[in-house]
Amino acid sequence: MATTASQEAFLRTFHAEHPAVTAEAFSRGRAPDGRSSYEILRDRVAGSRHVLDVGCGDGLLLELLAQTNGRQLAGLDLSAESLMLARDRLPLSGARLEQGRAQALPFPDDTFDACVSHMALMLMGEIEQVAAEVSRVLSPGGVLACVVGGGAVGGEAYDRFLGLLLSTLEGMPSSQRIPRLGDRRTRSRDGLDEILGPVGFAEVEWETVPIDLSGPVQQVWASVSGLYDLGPLDQATVEELRKSFFAEARELTTSNGRVPCAFKVHVATARLR
Ligand SMILES: C[S@@+](CC[C@H](N)C(=O)[O-])C[C@H]1O[C@@H](n2cnc3c(N)ncnc32)[C@H](O)[C@@H]1O
Repeated sequence: MATTASQEAFLRTFHAEHPAVTAEAFSRGRAPDGRSSYEILRDRVAGSRHVLDVGCGDGLLLELLAQTNGRQLAGLDLSAESLMLARDRLPLSGARLEQGRAQALPFPDDTFDACVSHMALMLMGEIEQVAAEVSRVLSPGGVLACVVGGGAVGGEAYDRFLGLLLSTLEGMPSSQRIPRLGDRRTRSRDGLDEILGPVGFAEVEWETVPIDLSGPVQQVWASVSGLYDLGPLDQATVEELRKSFFAEARELTTSNGRVPCAFKVHVATARLR
């Protein structure tokens, strides 16, 4: 079992090389109502003025949140390189952007009325400590809204990609495999209740939303190949994987040249009692 320190070391190294990978891979994805998963999260905290993004990456969600006038925003991430990109976003010039760990938030008690987290909570070790910290920096009645990954929809290109990736990884030495990241309980409603209930949150509201990433094969590959698992693989192995993926994608391609691709996200919201 990887320690939290080794998980975080992996994440720092990966994002030093790929500081904007999640936004690049997933911001074009759309839910059935036309919103991206970032926009869904933005809308979950529409009435909140003081908002913290935990695991903010390159600041895309914060930039969307900054569309509401008069908001005070803060973001925290392990990755110095991702935060540099966030600092370059003009609407975030007034935001407080901190490098640090969600397990030790550098903010006083009762600072925010909402915490958001897009595709990050599910990667964090010592999750009870993260929950305690989020609860501490939220004001009474404050809300935590997060998006966590929910896997493939099935029968489309992401599903096929995961199948290919799994068989690729089976033959790989441990030096080319990533540490197990985060706590699986964050990916289910009951699990999240188990984590959040003891630190004062009411029951989690839970919605599963399909996100469509269909497009030309190159674009779909650019999205799916952003996964952490590809980070430690050597170039020749990634190239083999890419070729196999293109071959499978050809079978799926529709008459208008698009490869159907989708994944699920869980959108979870919990309010402090
Ligand atoms: C998959 S990326 C998502 C980035 C961004 N939220 C987005 O969706 O574009 C996960 C982010 O969480 C950050 N992260 C993971 N564990 C963390 C922790 N314990 N404390 C702070 N940030 C963390 C990583 O550095 C990374 O930037």
